[in-house]
Amino acid sequence: MESAVGILGTGSELPEKVLTNFDLEKMVDTSDQWITERTGIKERRQAAPHETTSTLSVMASRKALEMAGITPQDLDLVICSTISPDMPLPSTAALIQRDLGARACCAFDLAAACSGFLFGMTVAEKFIRNGDYKHVLVIGAELLSRYVDYKDRETCVIFGDGVAAAVLGPVTPPSGILASDLHTEGLYAEHLYIPAGGTASPASYETIARGGHYIKMRGNELFKVAVRSMEEVSRRVMEKAQVCPNQIDLFVPHQANQRITEAVRERLGVAPEKVYSNINRIGNTSSASIPICLDECVRSGRLKKGDLILMTAFGAGVTWGAVLMRW
Ligand SMILES: CC(C)(COP(=O)(O)OP(=O)(O)OC[C@H]1O[C@@H](n2cnc3c(N)ncnc32)[C@H](O)[C@@H]1OP(=O)(O)O)[C@@H](O)C(=O)NCCC(=O)NCCS
Repeated sequence: MESAVGILGTGSELPEKVLTNFDLEKMVDTSDQWITERTGIKERRQAAPHETTSTLSVMASRKALEMAGITPQDLDLVICSTISPDMPLPSTAALIQRDLGARACCAFDLAAACSGFLFGMTVAEKFIRNGDYKHVLVIGAELLSRYVDYKDRETCVIFGDGVAAAVLGPVTPPSGILASDLHTEGLYAEHLYIPAGGTASPASYETIARGGHYIKMRGNELFKVAVRSMEEVSRRVMEKAQVCPNQIDLFVPHQANQRITEAVRERLGVAPEKVYSNINRIGNTSSASIPICLDECVRSGRLKKGDLILMTAFGAGVTWGAVLMRW
């Protein structure tokens, strides 16, 4: 029987502190009504000063390993998808590997923003399928609050902190990843970016004074590209696997904006009750968004063995992708 690659365990971790729309009303010129109507978000999480991308990732990873029934020593590869690393050097994946007590396996970070977890899953799948590795830990981890300007009402209302992990490994067909499709279009790089702090504009008093280390977003321009891209790439994976929208049991789009989710769902013709959304509680956590949803669905029993699940994401780069899998 042909081998397949699937998810053996999931885990997530959210900081305790809740930042509500009413908290934000006190910080910028906004309102709970505007945020709720335009984004669907009511609250998001914000990490405490002692928490980092790697510390929360280790906690989420332990839960995923426990569900998978393996130990850190069984891991062959650790991929951490993040655009909010602990520090520029070394990789956050190296810190996670160290603190998990994994053996000296390969570990690296992957920067594909909100699409990063799907990019990571797809890389993991190739390594497992070709026989190089058996167990791969894929983490989506973001502490975006560290990069958000709480004076910029267009970004601070959207982004939140959160982390989730999944252990990928061999599964028995028909379970497993059926199709994936990934894209990047650098022409839109400056629609969503952090201009300073890298080699183009190294940290200085001047870059800090102009807020160059904060996330800048042209949200309105991204909106249409996001809807179109997620629709197209979702159709492509369904075509590859010869599946129709009405066969999808669970649709998990990146939680960017509830209006984007609704537009993509409608264009694809997926029934409303098949869509998972937690954006009201968690906001947009970039690459952590899809794995947090997955973990919630697994642990609540919403996702059952044999279910067909479609995941799609869009983010900075711009990047976009979709993964279709049978649970
Ligand atoms: C950011 C986003 C929520 C803004 O919503 P929008 O409906 O597009 O709003 P617009 O940018 O058109 O702004 C409309 C008005 O609301 C204002 N506004 C923006 N943010 C606001 C806020 N938090 N509170 C109140 N008013 C706000 C704008 O200043 C603008 O005012 P004006 O008409 O007087 O100029 C939305 O564009 C979005 O979600 N974009 C996609 C983001 C995305 O996909 N990113 C990639 C993945 S992370």
